[in-house]
Amino acid sequence: MRNLNRKLKVGILGATGMVGQRFISLLEEHPWFQVVVVAASSRSAGKAYEEAAKWKLEAPMPEAVKKLTVYDIAQIDDIAGKVDFVFSAVDMDKDEIIAIENAYAKAEVPVVSNNSAHRWTPDVPMIIPEINHRHTDIISSQKNRLGTKYGFIAVKPNCSIQAYVPALAAWEEYEPYEAVVTTYQAISGAGKTFEQWPEMVGNIIPYIGGEEAKSEDEPLKVFGKIENGEIVKASEPDITCQCVRVPVLNGHTAAVFVKFRKKATKEELIKKLVDFKSFPAEHELPSAPKQFIHYLPEDDRPQVSLDVEAENGMAVNIGRIREDKIYDFKFIGLAHNTKRGAAGGAVLCAELLVEKKFINPKEENK
Ligand SMILES: NC(=O)c1ccc[n+]([C@@H]2O[C@H](COP(=O)([O-])OP(=O)(O)OC[C@H]3O[C@@H](n4cnc5c(N)ncnc54)[C@H](OP(=O)(O)O)[C@@H]3O)[C@@H](O)[C@H]2O)c1
Repeated sequence: MRNLNRKLKVGILGATGMVGQRFISLLEEHPWFQVVVVAASSRSAGKAYEEAAKWKLEAPMPEAVKKLTVYDIAQIDDIAGKVDFVFSAVDMDKDEIIAIENAYAKAEVPVVSNNSAHRWTPDVPMIIPEINHRHTDIISSQKNRLGTKYGFIAVKPNCSIQAYVPALAAWEEYEPYEAVVTTYQAISGAGKTFEQWPEMVGNIIPYIGGEEAKSEDEPLKVFGKIENGEIVKASEPDITCQCVRVPVLNGHTAAVFVKFRKKATKEELIKKLVDFKSFPAEHELPSAPKQFIHYLPEDDRPQVSLDVEAENGMAVNIGRIREDKIYDFKFIGLAHNTKRGAAGGAVLCAELLVEKKFINPKEENK
């Protein structure tokens, strides 16, 4: 684990929103990061954070941020002078998000983004730290394009893929080439609670706008290879997906059928999950689960109410692995959508970038 002389100063773009609040809550006791700047739209700028943010989380608003004055995210130079890096969680048009994140990177501020706007920019790494941490190698190409020394953008992928991509990654040796996935997604993924979305009580909605394409395509970038300064997406596994909204507050479940080119037994698949080693755990990154993939042998697991908070919601739960008569195997995955799948995943990504010295205390940038 990296030894830092001081905590890194962090800005949160979109700090007043739902995801911004989760960043603030997660970073309250963080050993490496300290929130020093909160920024949002001109509507919130100039107000105290406790007034501007309509706090929605169960955990109380941390004292340290209550009196911070909210910046307008357009105050790039002011913010760049105060922070070592920023998390981005603004809700704007895609082109506007691309422009603002580029502007921060060009002001030499590393940006770790929760937004989807840059996910398909070929030299922006889309990172699940346990799976494709080597994609940070693309950052030098991105800096060349942007003309920066320290500024760059890294993103995390969509929350829906976190429940099944870890198992496919662990089974790489058996060459999974086709997967049929159905996701059962929690209402917090839409930024809602049951109070705000009473129609979801006792209901299922078979549509989540844009989610199926993300669930099918984003794993291929995560499994991609760096070639000529770009991340070239993998051609396999070919994934088809249906995404369903279910009456669950937190936790996306996935039911998956998979075909392998190389034959595997159930015992071999389980061993690969249990033995899966990863950079974040080996380097003891502060938010890394000790065991990334939890294999659950019981017939009725993983369950949202029993398993979603495993290792602070940062572990991924896999169970019900069994042979299938049409596909080779089927299984069930579960991941916490707002922790592992959103702010927690972005915080772990930032920790990875600190560990690899892409993000540093400013005075150490040379
Ligand atoms: N909610 C989730 O669970 C979830 C899940 C996955 C992805 N996401 C993505 O994460 C991002 C944030 O989502 P959210 O749910 O946190 O949204 P949100 O609660 O609506 O918050 C949006 C934030 O963006 C700021 N903002 C909006 N328009 C702006 C503008 N023109 N200039 C500067 N700041 C502006 C808002 O500031 P003001 O308060 O000043 O308006 C607020 O801080 C979105 O891209 C969303 O698609 C969210």
